[in-house]
Amino acid sequence: MRIVLLGAPASGKGTQANELCRTFGVPKISTGDMLRAALAAGTPLGKEAERYMNAGQLVPDSVVIGLVEERTAEPDAASGFILDGFPRTVPQAQALGDLLVRKGTPLDAVIQIDVPRELLMERATLRRTDKRTGQIYHLKYNPPPPGAELEHRADDQEETVKKRLDQYDAMTAALLPYYQKLGLLKRVDGVGEPSEVTRRILAALGRQ
Ligand code: AP5
Repeated sequence: MRIVLLGAPASGKGTQANELCRTFGVPKISTGDMLRAALAAGTPLGKEAERYMNAGQLVPDSVVIGLVEERTAEPDAASGFILDGFPRTVPQAQALGDLLVRKGTPLDAVIQIDVPRELLMERATLRRTDKRTGQIYHLKYNPPPPGAELEHRADDQEETVKKRLDQYDAMTAALLPYYQKLGLLKRVDGVGEPSEVTRRILAALGRQ
């Protein structure tokens, strides 16, 4: 199963990717998580990415394409993966297409999670992530359990979220017609309980 999850910042891609990985037994490949890990480790890549991420801008295509090429070559990705947050631009989508043609392993589907903009700000600013497990919580909709080691992402401040949403409208929304033309795009309503959204995604994939 090779799936791309598309959607605006805080639309629920990471939450749904975690669930789909459990269901299909394939890894999540999240460029956002990989960049945050590089940043936390203080690597040169992390230092370069930090200034873009904290400004709510996209990291250069060449950087993220290289990360995805390396990660998809690892053995656990041989039977599939859920891509979360990549591609985000048409050049990234073309690079992914070329990579998968070389491997002879095409995408099964591209799922767009639709959430109205007015809900995204609240989802982002009240998001908290458990540092140890990567589990994603929300202070209002999905409160963390006691003892969770919570992290508030630097780019989840209101002003930065606004910039990320604008960036999404300017760049990433162009991927919808791109994948529509390829016959891969399926749109799913992302408003409702996370489990209900998962059910809709599985139905769109013909797995329910
Ligand atoms: P990235 O980490 O990919 O951020 P994003 O796309 O902005 O998406 P988010 O992680 O903010 O949200 P999500 O859709 O995963 O939602 P979540 O499930 O957490 O990227 C960060 C940065 O890295 C980028 O800005 C860029 O700088 C850089 N970058 C990454 N990839 C790149 C690329 N390919 N090219 C260039 N630069 C790149 O949910 C959000 C909240 O809502 C949570 O609190 C959750 O609990 C809650 N929630 C989820 N579902 C529901 C629901 N159904 N109902 C109520 N609440 C819900």
